[in-house]
Amino acid sequence: MEPKEKGARPGGRRGKKPRVFMTGPLPDRAMRRLRRAYDVAMHEGRLPISRRGLLSGLRDAEGLICFPFDSVDAAALDAAPRLRVISTYSVGFDHIDIERAGERGIVVGYTPEVLTEATADISVTLMLDLMRRVSEGDRLIRGGGWKGVFGATDYVGVDLRGKTLGILGLGRIGEAVARRAAAFGMNITYHNRHRLPARMERGLNARYVGFGRLLSGSDVISVHVPYSGATHHLFDSGVFARMKRTAYLVNTSRGKVVCEPDLVRALRTGVIAGAGLDVFESEPVGRLNPLVRLPNVVLAPHIGSSTIETRSEMADLTLRNLDLGLRGQRPVHSVCR
Ligand code: DGY
Repeated sequence: MEPKEKGARPGGRRGKKPRVFMTGPLPDRAMRRLRRAYDVAMHEGRLPISRRGLLSGLRDAEGLICFPFDSVDAAALDAAPRLRVISTYSVGFDHIDIERAGERGIVVGYTPEVLTEATADISVTLMLDLMRRVSEGDRLIRGGGWKGVFGATDYVGVDLRGKTLGILGLGRIGEAVARRAAAFGMNITYHNRHRLPARMERGLNARYVGFGRLLSGSDVISVHVPYSGATHHLFDSGVFARMKRTAYLVNTSRGKVVCEPDLVRALRTGVIAGAGLDVFESEPVGRLNPLVRLPNVVLAPHIGSSTIETRSEMADLTLRNLDLGLRGQRPVHSVCR
């Protein structure tokens, strides 16, 4: 990150720091390092930045640090004639027009790997919470509704042990979820576009099934596919109808993979048993969102990667990607199309 010698700034002219625009702040240590190396302009108001703010910030930027809730589409890229590097503080990059960035020769860095374990923890947390009804119980107590000591059939949940977990998208995060679920005694099945090598399947004790089988045979489905045109509203009424009525859906990938109105209907009418969600079609989720009133739902405010350790590693990687890109080198993790 630090320039090696005075005047040898990453890709900049002698004595001139490259201009970096940030759509929001990173943790303090990262901010200090950024400000030492770059001419930083940052959006400081409410997140996400407005469209106008983004376009104006991009006008003279050579580097951009952005977040998954920013829309860095073709028009935004066209408003950034000097842009050379985008470094997103996220593993997802569906908010960036990768094709257009490629055409323009703009390098795109992102932050996989460092958030794998934290995100898997949240998937399993949602699963446990749903199946053992922890948040529901918490709401009950806080609302003064816990009137008698527990009866034999009160607040009963279901065991994880012996249940079938269907992982849609067995990549890094899906794999980390599989390892955790195995420790709870769950049977692991998965569906991917491409089947994994037998050695990996054996290592994870994971069985490959078709998408239909994943839907009909799983007690819990955990979603780990990236968002794209192909996965937009992949989970809709038709798909919910193919799941077990006792099944749970856990989503920590992207909200738009699930058609939310269809999910609400499925949860209300008992087509599926419950859902644990860390991502939503529109974020932040307000009180008017019908999901908020459903008892069989556990909601988290997009905190998959949100631990001190993980966020700090993400910040380091975001800076490293930016730094390398501005030096004309390949980021540690770059998105290539
Ligand atoms: C990501 O990295 O894409 C997450 O959704 C945000 O932490």
